Amino acid sequence: MCGIFGIVTKEKQKLGPTLIEAGHRLSYRGYDTVGAATIPPEGEIDLRKDVGKVQDVADRLKFSEMSGQRAILQLRWATFGAPSYTNAQPHLDSDGNMVGAHNGNVVNNVELRQQFMAEGMTVRSENDGESCVHAVERYINQGFDMVEAIRHAYNDLEGDYAFVIGKIGEDRLYAIKKGSGLIAGVTEGATCIASDLPSVLDITRNIVRLEDGEIITFWADGYEIRKVEDGSVVERQPELVEDTMEAVQKGGYDHFMLKEIHEQAQVAQELFHLLENSADVDPMIARIEAARNIYIIACGTSYHAGLLGSVYFANLAGRVTIPVLAPQFIAQYAPAVGPEDVGVFVSQSGETKDVLNAIQVAEARGMGVLGLVNVVGSSLMRESEYYVPLACDYEISVPATKTFTNQVVGFLYLALRMGGHDTAPLANLPRWIDETIEAVEQQIPAVEGKISPWDDLYCLGYGLTYPIALEGALKLKEITYAHCEGMLSTEFKHGPLSAVTEGYPVIFVAGPDDIPLIVSGINEVTCRGGRAIVISEEDSRLRVNADDMIVLPTVEAPDDMRPYIDALLSVLPLQLLSYKISLAHGYDPDFPRNLSKTLTVD
Ligand code: G6P
Repeated sequence: MCGIFGIVTKEKQKLGPTLIEAGHRLSYRGYDTVGAATIPPEGEIDLRKDVGKVQDVADRLKFSEMSGQRAILQLRWATFGAPSYTNAQPHLDSDGNMVGAHNGNVVNNVELRQQFMAEGMTVRSENDGESCVHAVERYINQGFDMVEAIRHAYNDLEGDYAFVIGKIGEDRLYAIKKGSGLIAGVTEGATCIASDLPSVLDITRNIVRLEDGEIITFWADGYEIRKVEDGSVVERQPELVEDTMEAVQKGGYDHFMLKEIHEQAQVAQELFHLLENSADVDPMIARIEAARNIYIIACGTSYHAGLLGSVYFANLAGRVTIPVLAPQFIAQYAPAVGPEDVGVFVSQSGETKDVLNAIQVAEARGMGVLGLVNVVGSSLMRESEYYVPLACDYEISVPATKTFTNQVVGFLYLALRMGGHDTAPLANLPRWIDETIEAVEQQIPAVEGKISPWDDLYCLGYGLTYPIALEGALKLKEITYAHCEGMLSTEFKHGPLSAVTEGYPVIFVAGPDDIPLIVSGINEVTCRGGRAIVISEEDSRLRVNADDMIVLPTVEAPDDMRPYIDALLSVLPLQLLSYKISLAHGYDPDFPRNLSKTLTVD
């Protein structure tokens, strides 16, 4: 996830050490390039940036020598444009008079770059941070002052972002917030801004929280906040933040997992905006449509998302796809694939060795490689002809949550497009996700205690909810250490039913179209003394048959889309349930024993 930092000091001083420290503090967010700039009152902006880690880049480019009264630092987590020197931020305007950097995604970046070039500006990179600078430059060229130019630029820059910018010949910096994090810190002799609290707490605990649609102008001993909408001044005093650094990094949540669960609405929104504007979506769809066989290849949670993607492709686009675990792809299908086939490789990290092995084998057979990947710049991204970036930012907790959701959103979007359906209802996803989390959070305590004493249980689904059942079972295994098997509900009677004893928990995930079948499954369990816990929308047939229900709110999706949306939402209670049971056992859900976030070994 990108991070920005900007500071204005009273005295001219060595700003290098402050910038390096800010870089270290932002680095927990994840990044692949580092850049810093100091802006003198006159002369040339000192801009230093490159691919690499903070200390490495700072040592190589001698950040410690950078001095002045105004400086900007940026860590870039690549989304638009590969990680490279050119795409690294900050960026200059055409004649080197201004420098700026952003955090977030400008989704109309491609169109904007073309416009800027047509208007005669010097566009050096593919990066959307550069578009923020040129968007301001465009209005400076028309004679507006900085605040007015930023207000106009705001209307041109679509997406969710925050950016900071400064200009030669002044004593101040400017920053704007639109969807991404931005706070300001006020201390004796300096004012700063940053993407998040942890990045400034070592400097000051006097914090001003910015809101979306606000511009802050800040100088060494003051600041002014204005609304973008009408330019009016907003009076806001700094507040004293007394939380510990760890609490602040977790955004006020007890664990990264809970924070990441709650970030799902925001990342789904960002992904939807990205997909609606991505230049890669059309060629990717064309590549899939033209293929003889389509394989969806992944491991772990990403495989479960691929499995649901496969159900989406068949139901919404009438295309058969073959979801397969990466090593089994090598063992089973690789000998039979060729240039007519494509593989959609799905991975949070883009570095899972099992997945990379499958890519290598696929490429050797001439098969097309497409990607759904969170870590841009990863091996999977580099190997992909086309890819969809999951736009989830950094996922710290080992159990994947927000990346699963966005993998599913990515597949749903592609399937809708391929089937000629309207994607517009997906704009409501963030609201539906938040409503679901809020509704199910209240219901978890009543159910949690029925499951947590058991170290053996099942999680069953059917059709669209089968992949969700597998994912729910994996979450429970990963962080509660219980043996939870995910299974197709109709298979339960073919063997596992023998495990059922008095109170034995079986979780059913029921989609709106499969209720009669799930009711049969429930009765097979309950008539043998087992406990049936159902996750579904409210339904009287389920209500009278199940022991416990976690009710999903009924979302206002178009009828023909509801089952697909419901499936996606039904993972949320399973994430929360696993989290709560993990805590009940006294485990750390963020870092479960024996597991690793990214498995780079065979
Ligand atoms: C590891 C992680 C899982 C993850 C899997 C695939 O096993 O612990 O949470 O689902 O790798 O990771 P990927 O980065 O390829 O999605």
